[in-house]
Amino acid sequence: MDRASQLSDRQNSCLMVIFGATGDLANRKLFPALYSLFRDGVLPEHFAVVGVARREKAPEEFRRDVWEAVRRYSRFEAGDETWRDFSGRFYYLRSDLREPGTYGRLKGLLGELDERHGVPGNRIYYLAVAPEHFSPIVENLAAAGLAVIRQGSRGEGSRGAAESGDGRESEQGSHLPGWQRLVIEKPFGHDLASAESLNRQIRAVFDEEQIFRIDHYLGKEMTQNIMVIRFANAFFEPVWNRRFIESIQITSSETGGVEDRGNYYEKAGALRDMVQNHMLQLLTMIAMEPPSSLQTEAIRDEKVKVLRSLKPMDPEEIRKNVVRGQYGAGAIKGQKVAGYRQEPKVGPASDTETFVAMKLFVENFRWAGVPFYVRTGKRLPVKATEIVVQFKSLPEILYFKEYGKLAPNLLVFRVSPQEGLFVRLNTKKPGTEDFIAPVAMDFCQKCEAEANSPEAYERLLFDVMRGDSTLFTRWDEVALAWNFVDPMARVWAEGAPAFPNYAAGSWGPEEQARLFEAGGGWWPVYGQEGAEKVLG
Ligand code: BG6
Repeated sequence: MDRASQLSDRQNSCLMVIFGATGDLANRKLFPALYSLFRDGVLPEHFAVVGVARREKAPEEFRRDVWEAVRRYSRFEAGDETWRDFSGRFYYLRSDLREPGTYGRLKGLLGELDERHGVPGNRIYYLAVAPEHFSPIVENLAAAGLAVIRQGSRGEGSRGAAESGDGRESEQGSHLPGWQRLVIEKPFGHDLASAESLNRQIRAVFDEEQIFRIDHYLGKEMTQNIMVIRFANAFFEPVWNRRFIESIQITSSETGGVEDRGNYYEKAGALRDMVQNHMLQLLTMIAMEPPSSLQTEAIRDEKVKVLRSLKPMDPEEIRKNVVRGQYGAGAIKGQKVAGYRQEPKVGPASDTETFVAMKLFVENFRWAGVPFYVRTGKRLPVKATEIVVQFKSLPEILYFKEYGKLAPNLLVFRVSPQEGLFVRLNTKKPGTEDFIAPVAMDFCQKCEAEANSPEAYERLLFDVMRGDSTLFTRWDEVALAWNFVDPMARVWAEGAPAFPNYAAGSWGPEEQARLFEAGGGWWPVYGQEGAEKVLG
């Protein structure tokens, strides 16, 4: 991608307002990502950031914090020469997010900065704040004339391109120079009903194509690579279906615990925090049909079809096919760690799940009968996100007759932290005897040219600036994902198993074995003890 040429023109020049600019997300992800884009020379020349937050801070202090964040988390070293130019684009507005006066002051500041930085009125409003602030911020932006109130929403299905151009006219006829885009972090609601209500409030002000709902898993290099590998290689697409594929496993395991996010996590749990979004997004990329083009809506339409095809589960199937867990005290890499219930801001009798594993089905012609196994959990032994495609075995003749069961072929997408692709084949071992053993063809993306491959947020911020929402979730994706997980949350609300049911540092509760046929189980992930032995 020739990124430099794409953001250099006036169309992409913009001011980015980050609500929640003193928070964790801004510091760990947004500032470092902006700095990397700057170092790569792909930020628009006319660009500045306004951080908005409650804390009292002088502009110089805010710039120092940005420096500290970049120094700690950026994949580039913060060099002095580039720093002056970069930090000169950062401004700070102390304010209470619910206070309407804030937005008048913000408007004034943005007007001044347009002049100073040569920006033609384009705006990115980034909501890096707790979800209860989403709606009030959007309402206040509209009330202050920083975004346009729509009169009467058009249907969700109509996604005209009318507003994505230079100026934006509301149906009332009021006019703002430039474009306005809203970036919104997860969680997008807590269930379908709350997501619908949030969406209604946002859509009263922003059109669907102005809304960028973040799922940072879509910004990961290997997630984007799934489509390329599937649709740009002759040997995968013809066998990508129920006739040749036995099962698919999607794992996202974390060594970390809930850390200081107890407040949020107590209400979310692994189902809402990971499954509703990241895990189902990975599943759509693996299971979707080839899109008719690489246009944003063509790709999203195919992802939506996968979500529509998810086989709903009744309460009995949920009890059978979905397993939840919560970690107790244990050890990660030899270090003792506390149980979930002992974490800060977590109730001592909490029933929140920190692990989910499930077997699900995509009911369409391509996938009928193929089990998809999905698992995610905190305080597991290894940090890894991987997808294993297991192919069906060949008829048991020839070598199978001689050597007994042969290992199935596997295609493994290593999404993170190891990035790459791994194929397991059966070959003859060198020597006089016809001994057959699995071997690996291992493509490690990070080990090759791109040891410093971009972080997910770099790609996502870059896409917001150029108005490309392909790697963001459209409203119908969000709604269908809630629709799939809500019944699980409802069944679970009736009562939890005896938590904690797995020790930190183990692979989760034993009950997950019931998801598999006898003898089946999870394939090991990269870095797991003994993985090389199993994978070859
Ligand atoms: C976030 C979740 O969306 O994703 C966190 O809220 C989780 O709980 C994180 O730890 C995992 O992201 P990654 O990129 O580290 O796999």
